[in-house]
Amino acid sequence: MTPNAAHQSPLTSDHRCPIRPAPATRVRPSTATLVVPLRHVNRNGIPKVSLDGISLSYKTNDGSQLLALDNINLRVKAGEFLCIVGPSGCGKSTLLHLIAGLQPATSGKVLIDDKQVEGTGTDRILIFQELGLFPWLTVGQNVEFGMKMKGISKAERNERTDYYLRLVHLTQFKDSYSHQLSGGMRQRVALARALASEPDVLLMDEPFAALDAQTRDLLHDELERIWSETGRTIIFVTHNVREAVRLGDRVALFTFRPGRIKREFVIDLPRPRQLEHVTVAKSAREILDHLREEINKSLEEQYGHEAVR
Ligand SMILES: Nc1ncnc2c1ncn2[C@@H]1O[C@H](COP(=O)(O)OP(=O)(O)OP(=O)(O)O)[C@@H](O)[C@H]1O
Ligand SMILES: [Mg+2]
Repeated sequence: MTPNAAHQSPLTSDHRCPIRPAPATRVRPSTATLVVPLRHVNRNGIPKVSLDGISLSYKTNDGSQLLALDNINLRVKAGEFLCIVGPSGCGKSTLLHLIAGLQPATSGKVLIDDKQVEGTGTDRILIFQELGLFPWLTVGQNVEFGMKMKGISKAERNERTDYYLRLVHLTQFKDSYSHQLSGGMRQRVALARALASEPDVLLMDEPFAALDAQTRDLLHDELERIWSETGRTIIFVTHNVREAVRLGDRVALFTFRPGRIKREFVIDLPRPRQLEHVTVAKSAREILDHLREEINKSLEEQYGHEAVR
């Protein structure tokens, strides 16, 4: 792991590993017209996302304060793929909410292209752990929703909806409602919806956690391809360290509460990477050793409390 290789080499058109053939059902849709590279490229070195001294405290039920995030300083370059790992409850989702503008920090600033975030914006999209699909809309309408908010024409919305549904293999469920889908399928609808509005910054909160291994591998490939072709900036939260190494240019490891950045790892393994590859496993092991210390702290706190009860 050495200096960042964000966005250096675009992937070849077929970046799958020859020793692990793609599932027979896989259809790679044409991307010629629809996955549009970002128009403005930031050439002056201003980070796409900056977190300056971010702290956040929640009020708890007994009226005390819980410090969820403590003095987070982080820069994410335009086009970088940053993964965040850390024990449960360390503030990963909270951090994405702050970047999305869904809640303000107690102190510190979030900047996008050097402009302070003061609320939500169509330049950022968050895929929640809870997905946020609208149950009264069909799959197709859910995918269309963000584009509608952006004022994209009906014809383009239809085209992009069909494209992104094909990408996540849900074309035949376009007219279904979310309660008619499995958990993994719902996750794929949420991904298609986020990708379809083609935001500058994609904030992803454990988007693939509930998926079966084959679907997850497929979506890793597709996400990496879309990222490399479009130059979007991705901040991706996961519990799965291997997934973080498979996808990220950089992995930021958070401490157990309060969430602080314990360490950052630059992953300069060549792309495309394979989850099972020995180099990925090796890098993941190194990160996991550090993560275990934090998980142990969280378990100690939990069992300590239980012993007192
Ligand atoms: N709305 C809230 N009110 C009070 N406390 C909250 C609220 N949201 C989160 N917290 C607390 O803040 C801390 C961080 O929560 P957060 O959901 O960001 O963690 P996380 O790292 O995403 O965890 P996980 O990996 O389990 O998803 C936790 O201790 C949680 O209990
Ligand atoms: Mg979370």
